[in-house]
Amino acid sequence: VKQIKLQPSGEVYEVKTNTALSTDILAEKLGLIMACGGHGLCATCHVFVKDGGDNLSPVSDREKKTLQRVTSCSPASRLACQARVHGPVEVSLPEGRYLESAEELESLIGRRAETNILHPVTGQVLVKQGQIISKFATRQLKGADFKPWEIASKTKTTGGKAV
Ligand code: FES
Repeated sequence: VKQIKLQPSGEVYEVKTNTALSTDILAEKLGLIMACGGHGLCATCHVFVKDGGDNLSPVSDREKKTLQRVTSCSPASRLACQARVHGPVEVSLPEGRYLESAEELESLIGRRAETNILHPVTGQVLVKQGQIISKFATRQLKGADFKPWEIASKTKTTGGKAV
């Protein structure tokens, strides 16, 4: 069993050695929406490793490619669904909550954002904490692809080449 410490709260969770940082239980406790289903294709399980980065499995090519799209990515960034735990680690989450659809943001127009509202693919802050959610914010999302992994899987089933 290995320990994962969450910063800044200091809460400690235990996972079996070599399981992903985002076990089902942990994902639920942390409120990770895991939009792509744990396939390493979104930003919704993005974490910053504060300590113990060497105790995680190496970054795969897919994880590297996905992290390149994440606007808040840093050298400490990992995708919790891809990083396997081999020893104690400390992590923190980007501040905010991820949208599940463009419609969700439209339904919040006129309200004040209680926390940063984040794009589920790029991690971009769409509305900052404390700002009123405006039509302008939703216009930024026109044509935005919220679930590129669905396109990739459809391409696969039709015999095309997924990108
Ligand atoms: S859940 Fe999508 S990359 Fe981890």
